[in-house]
Order: sequence, then C-alpha cells, then structure tokens
Amino acid sequence: MFKTIFIWLFGTLLLLQAIQISIPPIPKKIDPNTEIKVSAPLMKTLKTSCYACHSYETKMPWYGNIAPVSWEVKSHIKEGRAWLNFQEWKTYDDEKKQKIYKGIVKTLKDNTMPMPMYLLIHKDAKLTASQKDSLIKWAESNIKEEY
Ligand code: HEC
Repeated sequence: MFKTIFIWLFGTLLLLQAIQISIPPIPKKIDPNTEIKVSAPLMKTLKTSCYACHSYETKMPWYGNIAPVSWEVKSHIKEGRAWLNFQEWKTYDDEKKQKIYKGIVKTLKDNTMPMPMYLLIHKDAKLTASQKDSLIKWAESNIKEEY
C-alpha cells in the first residue's frame, strides 16, 4: 500500500520536472555603470535583502531547480527582475524611477518586500528597523512632486 503511494508520488514528482519556467538569460556583459549608486550602508541592505530577485546576482538554491518549488522561485526572480533590476537602474527613465521610489516606500511600509515567503527561508534578508527606516527615508527623499 505505502509502496504504491510512494511510487505514484515519486513518479508524479519526476513528471513535474518536465515543466519548468525559463528566466530570460543573464546578459554576457553586465555594464557596471548602470548599477544604482547609493551610500555603502544602503547598498549593503539592497544586496542582502533585495538583490536575490532584483538584480542578476541571484544565488539559486538547490531546490530552486526542483518543480514545483522552482515555479515559485523562478517566477519571483523573473518578475522581480522585470519590475526592478538595481543593476539596470541607470537605464530607467525618471518616470520609472519615481514609480520605484514610491513602490519602495509602499512595499516596505506594508511589509510586502522583501517577499514574506522568501524571509521564511532567508532570515538574514529581513530588514532591521533601522535598515527599513533608512531605505524608506532614502526613497522618500528622491520622490518629486510633479510625478
Ligand atoms: C524573493 C524575491 C524578492 C525579494 C527578495 C524582493 N523582491 Fe521586490 N519584487 C519581487 C517580485 C516578484 C515583484 C513583482 C511584483 C509583485 O509580485 O509584487 C517585486 C516588486 C517590487 C517592487 C514594485 C512593486 C510595486 O507595487 O511597486 C518594488 C518597489 C520592490 N519589489 C522592492 C523591493 C525591495 C526594496 C526589496 C528589498 C528590501 C525587494 N523588493 C526584495 C520579488 C522580490
């Protein structure tokens, strides 16, 4: 009985591996000049808490390639990068940057970024109160009224 269930489960899991989400490939040459420039402490915060999904510097964990977990992980990386890639920052126009500054203030205040599910596994990415505060202050100081 258990053996049959186990074989079915294992077989299903194997079949699921055939369905994978593809992330657009990382460019061969990443222009270091288009990366965002902020103070060293802010940069450190972005790198530990946001870069996994908002840059090309994604460290894919082993389970990140195993369906069905990979569907979650890869779609976050794919969408996260599409919304905001700190290494493409200088290619964004003012309108996009303004949207992002406002988005940062909102998502940090609402605790929706970094993604709560991600924080369950990556405790080190959780923002301390002061990291959160400086990130919000930085974004707010860049918001212009006319947008
Ligand atoms: C585990 C992946 C992940 C991490 C880590 C992460 N994000 Fe995101 N982020 C996403 C995804 C996916 C989206 C796309 C929109 C959505 O699903 O909400 C997004 C969207 C956004 C947006 C646009 C959303 C809006 O409503 O304007 C902002 C701003 C943002 N993230 C900021 C951050 C900041 C700042 C950090 C670090 C403190 C961070 N994110 C960490 C995955 C992530």
